[in-house]
Amino acid sequence: MKKSFIIANWKMNPRTLKEAKNLFNSVKKGIKSSKGIEVIVSPPFIYLPLLGREKSKIKLASQNIFWEENGAFTGEISPLMLKNLGVEYAIVGHSERRALGETDAMINKKIRLALKLKLKPILCLANFVQLKKSLKGISEKIILAYEPVFSIGTGKPCSVKKAKEIRKKIKYPLVLYGGSVNSQNAESYLKEGGFQGLLIGGASLNAKEFVKIVNLIREIK
Ligand code: PGA
Repeated sequence: MKKSFIIANWKMNPRTLKEAKNLFNSVKKGIKSSKGIEVIVSPPFIYLPLLGREKSKIKLASQNIFWEENGAFTGEISPLMLKNLGVEYAIVGHSERRALGETDAMINKKIRLALKLKLKPILCLANFVQLKKSLKGISEKIILAYEPVFSIGTGKPCSVKKAKEIRKKIKYPLVLYGGSVNSQNAESYLKEGGFQGLLIGGASLNAKEFVKIVNLIREIK
């Protein structure tokens, strides 16, 4: 059976390094087994080096990357630097970044560089235009996360029925669902919706809730 992907997107949380360590360690302890599941934590950049040192089956993702390897780009982070820290994945094109001005063309460049450097991109998208434009000219299959904007951080998850319809139209092997996922609705997106995993924001900041979701998904396998 294929692996499911459960990704914790911590966004700009938590406030201290101590809290980040505690959250990570609680998740690590709580997960009984990650067999058949790729558990990925995506903390703010500055916590990555520290969490990367923890011995664990949990993989790390960055929440963003830049599209150049190095140079005069103040404030940006190169995928090369992330690779060097042992980071395996990079979230690209999250709607909260798009809202700050990130375009499909920028996202396309980010995906290309990530693939070149063998950092695995996770492309977030909310519609088919974004899907087409962000992946223009890219034939390699990457992980996608369908995240309807009205569901992100709102407590209003997309109905499984609707999500399933969209999943069917995305002719792609690996598509995750994201948007107000919690332990009540998590299973249904995989069981009924046909998704290969979940991208979890708010609920991933609560170790108990996140661990519960991981363990539930493991059991349906
Ligand atoms: P949410 O966020 O689970 O808090 O809705 C999901 C995301 O932004 O990836």
